[in-house]
Amino acid sequence: MKTILLMLIIIIEIFECKIQQDYLCISDQDDQMIELKSNEHCGSKTSYLTARYDRKLLLERDWHLNNQQCKPIYLYFLGRHSIRFPGLKEIIKQERLMPKYAKIISKNGTKLSNGIRHDLHYWTLMYDQTDQYHVTLSGKYETQTIAKIFYRYFPKLLNVDRIDVSVSRKIRTRETAWAFLRTLYDIQTPNSNKHTLKWDNKLNKMVSRHKIVESDLLMIHERCKKFGSPKEGKSAKYKELFHSLSFDKMRNDFSQRNGIKNEENFTIEHMYLLKSLCCYEQAIYQQSPWCSLFKPYERFAFNYLDDIKSYTDAYGYGINRKMACVLIADLRRKLIMARDDPHSINTTLYFGHDHLMYRLFSYLNLFEQFPHFKYDRNGQICLPINREWDSSTITPFGTNFVAILYDCDEDDDQKKLLTLVNENVVEIPGCTNGFCPLDEFLNYYEHLENDCKIEDICRLPES
Ligand SMILES: *[C@@H]1O[C@H](CO)[C@@H](O)[C@H](O)[C@H]1NC(C)=O
Ligand SMILES: *[C@@H]1O[C@H](CO)[C@@H](O)[C@H](O)[C@H]1NC(C)=O
Ligand SMILES: *[C@@H]1O[C@H](CO)[C@@H](O)[C@H](O)[C@H]1NC(C)=O
Repeated sequence: MKTILLMLIIIIEIFECKIQQDYLCISDQDDQMIELKSNEHCGSKTSYLTARYDRKLLLERDWHLNNQQCKPIYLYFLGRHSIRFPGLKEIIKQERLMPKYAKIISKNGTKLSNGIRHDLHYWTLMYDQTDQYHVTLSGKYETQTIAKIFYRYFPKLLNVDRIDVSVSRKIRTRETAWAFLRTLYDIQTPNSNKHTLKWDNKLNKMVSRHKIVESDLLMIHERCKKFGSPKEGKSAKYKELFHSLSFDKMRNDFSQRNGIKNEENFTIEHMYLLKSLCCYEQAIYQQSPWCSLFKPYERFAFNYLDDIKSYTDAYGYGINRKMACVLIADLRRKLIMARDDPHSINTTLYFGHDHLMYRLFSYLNLFEQFPHFKYDRNGQICLPINREWDSSTITPFGTNFVAILYDCDEDDDQKKLLTLVNENVVEIPGCTNGFCPLDEFLNYYEHLENDCKIEDICRLPES
């Protein structure tokens, strides 16, 4: 009996150990032994270049150089807009609460360096309500870099005379498209009058010389709402974590450390708001004193929390998983055109939103692995350290899904399709690998011509 008990204890110990390896428990141990990947990560508010740097691209080593027998002839690029300012509601909250916390913390915070104390003391919000949702200067700069990266890969395809550009009806996608196009114009017509943008007095707005159209395809994530389909929101798991004792403990540690007294009624919502401000400032100005107030595991925990929301939006609802078929049906038609019509354009650029990318990824079964959090013996929450669905790397600002059609002459008129997410090769359903015979792709998705109508999908019973 004793031995069995002993063995049981050993097994439990081993199990606990395992939990601690793959999971990060929100406990009172001071800083965590596990080294967390980049402390700069901010979920879907991460900048593209931060995420790119951390992914240590396989790209140049892998597909680009190995495909010299194949010539790229068509590029399909679907990108999320670039870094933007917060929305109105959030700016209002920041204006209302943050000056107070900057004052309290700079005065009474216990773990601040003098530099951070100084920065918080003189801190003011550097944007205002008129900036809501506009792309930031850093976003324009980053888009310029992304355009240059793709121009380096595909200089012939990104010829400004042979590009179609579409955006959603939101200004942030249009501003991203402008920045992208303008970069291509600057590269290709350096000495001409390079202003692709001009002020139109009649329309009283900025217009682009290059025709940029608004496409409903880029707003499908909004379409079903009219039909009473699932609302984006906070799932039961999200609420469980947000209101857990572990998160409350985290909040309490945070407020003690930073000199926020109990009478301030500092809530987990306030802590979330501070974290969000840290992320915005980091994306906009590359630094923020607010970020220094957090321990790595605290930021990690908030990123995980956000990912519950985006994962639920992507994979949690049958309707959401299906609707991006319209994007793939559109891609399919464009590939057929590029294959059959020698005068067709060579590049399609689309600029959309994170919620659109979530749906595309779930339609393509990408990044599906997302382990739930657990409780340890003491009832503390333990968060999984690794997950495929990590919005810091899969949907940062400027995230892109790209499909390139190649003409491979050694293979007897064989055409092939390469699929990438953020410049990494991904394998999609219907294709045996990330570099797929075009016919395989076309056949697999042929049925979409008939059974992919967004109105029908919106009316499906929720499964
Ligand atoms: C542009 O597309 C057409 C039609 O597919 C193709 O014939 C041509 O080679 C492409 N141009 C470049 C530079 O790839
Ligand atoms: C800092 O702490 C002191 C002592 O508890 C308190 O009197 C003061 O009001 C605090 N300052 C701020 C800005 O909260
Ligand atoms: C905190 O809550 C109490 C009770 O609701 C309230 O009287 C007090 O004014 C609040 N403090 C602050 C700083 O809002």
